[in-house]
Amino acid sequence: MRYALCAMLKMTHLSVNINKFATLRNARGGNRPDLLQAAKDCERFGAQGITVHPRQDERHIRYQDVSGLATILTTEFNIEGYPSQKWLNIVKKVVPAQATLVPDKPGQLTSDHGWDTINEENFLKDIVSELKDSGIRTSIFVDPVEKYIEGAAKVDTNRIELYTEEYAKQYRVLGKEKALAPYARSAKFAGELGLGINAGHDLDLDNLKYFKDNIPNLLEVSIGHALICDAIYLGLENAIQLYLRELI
Ligand code: PXP
Repeated sequence: MRYALCAMLKMTHLSVNINKFATLRNARGGNRPDLLQAAKDCERFGAQGITVHPRQDERHIRYQDVSGLATILTTEFNIEGYPSQKWLNIVKKVVPAQATLVPDKPGQLTSDHGWDTINEENFLKDIVSELKDSGIRTSIFVDPVEKYIEGAAKVDTNRIELYTEEYAKQYRVLGKEKALAPYARSAKFAGELGLGINAGHDLDLDNLKYFKDNIPNLLEVSIGHALICDAIYLGLENAIQLYLRELI
């Protein structure tokens, strides 16, 4: 229903990834900045969703943060991560609007590739079905490669999240048209297969608008690093407003 409405209105939701607030807090111990307050403020400033990526070593988001956030958020909660048993337990306990499956190894600095949905088909199928049975929408992080998107459709996920680091890099190197081409093809293909489309990684105020304007069925972007860096100079409210403006 929400998918249909978003598609009709051609709306792309901004989900703010708040991992960096937790990184800053953890640098000193204590509770500054207050992660839950930061999440509420992101919502107050217009974000339509909040994303967290609890990693196994809890170096930024802690599992306890996830439970706390679930009780206060009023917008869509998206929990990303590698579907270890520990991750699945917390996700199924808090029942976020969306769970995004990411093939990260423990200790990895940040996500740097999408799923091989062909070799991991059985594993992903079981996890997707388990999450859907709990009433959670699923998204699978993929590179813009048609065979992996076809694989994502086979495991019956609701959505894919296109991994946009390469787009961001090539936007500067090859230029925006060439950078976008594999993503535009992939998004069209995914749409034909009935998959909803999210995107994320290294999206920023330079490259976001062109991506949004040329991926007509883009439902959600999750943005963390660049938005928080911009917020250091501009303030959180201004930064969120500027990102929202790119998504109109
Ligand atoms: N999507 C996924 C799966 C991620 O792992 C991350 C980073 O945690 C993001 C989106 C957001 O990327 P960025 O912080 O570069 O905006």
